[in-house]
Amino acid sequence: MMDWNALLEAAVAAQARAYAPYSRYHVGAALVSGSGQVFTGCNVENISFGGTICAERTAIVTMVAAGERQIGQLLVVTADGGSPCGMCLQVIAEFAGPNLEVALATPAGVGRILTLSDLLPHAFKTDTLG
Ligand code: THU
Repeated sequence: MMDWNALLEAAVAAQARAYAPYSRYHVGAALVSGSGQVFTGCNVENISFGGTICAERTAIVTMVAAGERQIGQLLVVTADGGSPCGMCLQVIAEFAGPNLEVALATPAGVGRILTLSDLLPHAFKTDTLG
């Protein structure tokens, strides 16, 4: 298990790179992969609004593009300790089990640590696909 404060530092550095000229809500995410590597992401907004990608999904697609498919720990940092949106939770569930720990942080410190099943108790799942 990586120290949450080390992950917070990585997420805060990513948050500083957020491209959020429309909402001005800067989000940073940092995750530890199955191999123990840290991947980070920030939100990247678009003038079309719908083209915006959240910090969590930026970190996850970066991890997958690097050849890894397991999230071991995840921390999200915002000004107010907000939790991941529903779409991000479903994407997190693609690459993590229900016991994944998700820390909600502000730059001042790590706040609540919840499990993925706390945040998304009934993730979409079906045996008819894949
Ligand atoms: N945002 C994230 O990056 N992660 C979330 O889980 C919630 C929302 C971003 C999207 C948009 O750029 C801004 O925060 C305001 O919604």
